[in-house]
Amino acid sequence: MNGRTPLIAGNWKMHKMGSQAVEAANQLKRLIEKATDVEVMIAPTYTALYQVAQVLKDSTIALGAQNLYWEKQGAFTGEISSEMLVDAGCSHVIIGHSERRQFFGETDASVNLKIQAALAAGLIPVFCIGETEAQREAGETFSVLDKQVRDGLKGFSFEDLSGLVVAYEPVWAIGTGKTATREQAQKVHQFIRSLLETLFDKPFAGSVRILYGGSVKPDNVRALMEMPDVDGALVGGASLDPETFSKLVFFNL
Ligand code: PGA
Repeated sequence: MNGRTPLIAGNWKMHKMGSQAVEAANQLKRLIEKATDVEVMIAPTYTALYQVAQVLKDSTIALGAQNLYWEKQGAFTGEISSEMLVDAGCSHVIIGHSERRQFFGETDASVNLKIQAALAAGLIPVFCIGETEAQREAGETFSVLDKQVRDGLKGFSFEDLSGLVVAYEPVWAIGTGKTATREQAQKVHQFIRSLLETLFDKPFAGSVRILYGGSVKPDNVRALMEMPDVDGALVGGASLDPETFSKLVFFNL
């Protein structure tokens, strides 16, 4: 027993209108009512957050956002602050997802600022890292991850980062149906944990949940979750249908 409660997190990306998000949240609530020893989080799109928060009020399912902007308020058209996410009912926020890095110019430096803003507002950051296919093929996986972790977490102490969740998502496995093998995932998760130990300390590294993400499905979740350093999953496609997602929550059955 490592003392880390598994976390199964659903990233709904840019899917579902408000009413559809409410319906899916209601369904999920019913489907996983009896789940124990697992934490569940869903991250709907911004416009559905407040509505979904009302549905989740009397449940143990946590609400997350998919991004934030680091300033508290001001003339930043189109952006949303960490306080606004808290106000909408969020407890978690996904930061540095590879789609934000690839399509929206997210850098390790902006990820660092966002983690800082999330922590200041009391949000749990789900800090995403991962290598591209080209980087893996060039043998750069570990150096890429090393830089993402060091720069993303630069300037924090382990006290600041309490509750931090890391999500390892190989870019080549996201939405492609190509999952990393569980051995590949374990090797990377172990690397990340030992890096956290080097940067902070052993108890902290041992407490951080490291999720795997990238084509997690009901038929591969259990094998991944059996690995000692895989503490959960960050799920895109398979989180959209509550029935399918509930099977991931019950990975142990
Ligand atoms: P996927 O997405 O499960 O659809 O591969 C994972 C993610 O982007 O978090």
